Amino acid sequence: MKPAELFDLTGKTAIVTGGANGIGQASCLMLANFGAQVVVADLKLEDARRTADAITQAGGKALAVACNVTKDEDLVSLVDQTLAEFGGLHILVNNVGGGGAGKEGPDQITVEQFARVFELNVFSMWRLCQLCAPHMRAAGYGSIINMSSMASINHSPAISAYASSKAAINHMTRNLAFDYGPVIRLNAIGPGAVRTGALATVLTPEIEKRMLAHTPLARLGEVDDIAGAVLYFAAPVSSWVSGQVLFVNGGGEQTLD
Ligand SMILES: NC(=O)c1ccc[n+]([C@@H]2O[C@H](COP(=O)([O-])OP(=O)(O)OC[C@H]3O[C@@H](n4cnc5c(N)ncnc54)[C@H](O)[C@@H]3O)[C@@H](O)[C@H]2O)c1
Repeated sequence: MKPAELFDLTGKTAIVTGGANGIGQASCLMLANFGAQVVVADLKLEDARRTADAITQAGGKALAVACNVTKDEDLVSLVDQTLAEFGGLHILVNNVGGGGAGKEGPDQITVEQFARVFELNVFSMWRLCQLCAPHMRAAGYGSIINMSSMASINHSPAISAYASSKAAINHMTRNLAFDYGPVIRLNAIGPGAVRTGALATVLTPEIEKRMLAHTPLARLGEVDDIAGAVLYFAAPVSSWVSGQVLFVNGGGEQTLD
């Protein structure tokens, strides 16, 4: 492979769920910077439009789509709209996820709430893989990147639903790599604490200080730190990498406790 081809995404189409803000938005901009056409799928259509506009204003191609990943009809429509706009599909960033925040003690949440975390973080991801895979096979190129978390391997209080759903993502990724190979590669990224709106809801100066005491690189993550890993897995440079979970965490771990 020529050096210029390693990260070249020209002609590739990417769907990024939760692409309107945070890590998803940075991933959209990163993939577009390297030539991909990007579908920004998000609950918040106005925010998704802003991300798509930033890409088109910089000379790229993007489409904003309203999508709640927990609704099957939205996922089906997302893939349909992608194909109608760009004629193919090569990259899927399954970025949406939520829960945790130290609020999942067994005396705090119900079984229905526990199930909803899995619905949001795991079932939607599995289903979107199923919907996208045939089109990636048809295109002859496929890379699926699932957003996990350091919570998938950490042990902490009051985070059992989020943490176990993220652990499920790691193992689902490793197993689906067999089901969808050889054309499609599946990998997961496990971010540590990354400065986004989601983190801001729980971060205090005291918590940050404790986190940095366990972080060799002595800072919290920025969204581009994760988008860089997304680019690596999306691009031809990682063409013999599948079934892996890459933790991007400043070399340490950042927990809320
Ligand atoms: N920020 C962190 O420190 C951190 C750490 C580990 C893992 N993660 C993971 O990274 C991913 C992104 O997190 P973030 O911090 O960037 O979040 P964020 O809250 O900054 O952004 C999430 C985006 O997803 C959208 N969204 C939420 N629910 C949706 C749904 N049902 N359907 C479609 N869109 C939906 C929101 O509108 C928003 O635009 C998540 O999977 C999260 O678990 C984040």
